[in-house]
Amino acid sequence: MTIPTHAVPARLLDESKCPKPHVSSLEQYKEMHQESVENPVGFWRKMAKSNLDWISPFSDETVMQGSFMDGDIAWFPHGALNVAYNCIDRHASKNPDSVAMIFEADEPGNHEKITYATLLREVCRFANVLKKYGVRKGDTVAIYMPMVPEAAYAMLACARIGAVHSVVFAGFSAEALRDRMVDAKCKVLVTADQGLRGGRVVHLKKIADEALAQSPLVKSVIVFQRTGDDKVPFDPTRDVWWHEECVTQRPFCPCEPMNAEDPLFMLYTSGSTGKPKGVVHTTGGYLLGAHTSVKYIFDLHPGDIYGCMADVGWITGHTYIVYGPLSNGVTTVVFESTPTYPDASRFWEVVDTHKLTQLYTAPTAIRALRRLGDSFVEKHSLESLRVLGSVGEPINPEAWDWYNTVVGRGRCAIVDTYWQTETGSIIVTPLPGCIPTKPGAATVPFFGVDLAILDANTGKEIPYDGSEEITGVLALRQTIPSIARTVYGDHNRYLDTYMRPYKGFYFTGDGASRDTDGYYWIKGRVDDVINVSGHRMSTAEIESALITHPACAESAAVGIADDLTGQAVVCFCTLKSHHADEASVAAAFRFQVRTQIGPFATPKAIVIVNDLPKTRSGKIMRRILRKAAGGEVSLEDVEDDEAIRAKLGDISTLADPSIVKHIVEKVKKAGL
Ligand code: WTA
Repeated sequence: MTIPTHAVPARLLDESKCPKPHVSSLEQYKEMHQESVENPVGFWRKMAKSNLDWISPFSDETVMQGSFMDGDIAWFPHGALNVAYNCIDRHASKNPDSVAMIFEADEPGNHEKITYATLLREVCRFANVLKKYGVRKGDTVAIYMPMVPEAAYAMLACARIGAVHSVVFAGFSAEALRDRMVDAKCKVLVTADQGLRGGRVVHLKKIADEALAQSPLVKSVIVFQRTGDDKVPFDPTRDVWWHEECVTQRPFCPCEPMNAEDPLFMLYTSGSTGKPKGVVHTTGGYLLGAHTSVKYIFDLHPGDIYGCMADVGWITGHTYIVYGPLSNGVTTVVFESTPTYPDASRFWEVVDTHKLTQLYTAPTAIRALRRLGDSFVEKHSLESLRVLGSVGEPINPEAWDWYNTVVGRGRCAIVDTYWQTETGSIIVTPLPGCIPTKPGAATVPFFGVDLAILDANTGKEIPYDGSEEITGVLALRQTIPSIARTVYGDHNRYLDTYMRPYKGFYFTGDGASRDTDGYYWIKGRVDDVINVSGHRMSTAEIESALITHPACAESAAVGIADDLTGQAVVCFCTLKSHHADEASVAAAFRFQVRTQIGPFATPKAIVIVNDLPKTRSGKIMRRILRKAAGGEVSLEDVEDDEAIRAKLGDISTLADPSIVKHIVEKVKKAGL
């Protein structure tokens, strides 16, 4: 390995200024990683014993079962444990007064510290409320909550009694919530009267009521009062108030012993079809992945105050706000606001007020803050920070450099962490204190992760000997404890999506290269998934939303590059009948996507066209739309066959080649 561009920050190697990192040399990383992939059973057995508390021990002989070949993965299948016990009780008994959570409310200056003892009582009370409303081991509870500690209490209460939670991001629409509750057969919904974000009110209960009108299985709705607005709809035959229920409950509730392979939660995520899938994570392996990854990658030490600025509605919130940090017994931040409310110094105010030791956010936030200027950052000391993390999409080197120099002042480790809802925890990342970084590279595999780069055409692994860079699709060769076990209600879809595209491997859906130093660079999705500000959605999902509009005949959604959000959505639509006012139709279509999926999915542009570019067999040639929307083809180009071929590749299979000119004209008119 040659020396990469950014060495490990000196401060992390100076024990008088920082705790000694868990892994403190490249050699140590290499040894541990080698052991973890050559002897995963021995490695994870040791990790599972030393990091988690088990109710009944797993068998040393059956640590790991199954393979990607058969999609029958299990870890520690004979052991029993409880996730809530590991995240709360074991810390509450030793250090009841240490702070488990800091709630940083939307309104600056409002925050609350929750100790492990309080967390235990609150979670127990709510677990008893869930039991009162009939929730039993194995039942699925829907959680549609703002970023308040009660969202985490609800998740942990489910874990305590063996219920499965399905958190639905509070930015999702009524339709999206309904689909998820119906698919998961939820009988109980936990929600709030309203949410607050960036000074704006989100009418959660009102939206939930619309979803509930079409979710006949849900019999009870537990409503947390966030704002106390008296106009919030409330149906006394179905709804109960969180606070009224909790005060009646005893603050003790025993932990249900769970088999390591019992499901802990499901989380819906977008794939390449219109129907989101409920990715299922289980108890033991998931917790082990969450615990060890946050411990090593954020280099957690006792007393750390760790801030992951994600939302519990996404996997990052599950693993890196709730389960990972609490299992490690540190303080985790629940951040209700946005990076720019009331202004662009909010994150830095939070860092200095609470003395955060780690900060984890997304490239979109980093780019937006960078654009607003250094002055917001410079007036803060940020001295407490040791590790800065990035997640959700590739981070461009400019944003990486800004994060490193302006926020980190060159003193912090920058960890560009690559993973997915399905992997449950980070799989490619630097480790602070030992892996020199390169801006834009997620660098090296985490423990237990055995990566392969495959040729998408032949399906074969691309040989790598370090003499030249290789590029292809990224796959895992070997299972890891936190990998998703199934898709709820459709194991075949799990096999089709992840295991069958490349036999014997788990297919990530991302393209990647491996450079001559052995570093991995993630290039983004190779399937029909669009990633806007780190929010994952499928083209098919957006198209299904559009097609339900009475005026829309056909639609095709594509992702184009965007300076701020990474990617943006552009939709091409044809109409059922001619409409003189295309602008108002386009506005109605945008609104349609917004209400069917959620505001975060709102297309950047809707382009109304006479026809979509189709092959003679009727297949839409998305490549043409992507390049046209991305501004790669000019109006001059369309007059010149040579230029068109150079820019768009072969278009001879198009049923109507003249459509290209029409599309390019419409794209220009739409101002793209
Ligand atoms: C992308 C979020 C590049 C990737 C944790 C992946 C990234 C998808 C990175 C998963 C990164 C996530 N560099 N790309 N550091 N992190 N991605 O399921 O395309 O919401 O497949 O999980 O985000 O998104 P998901």
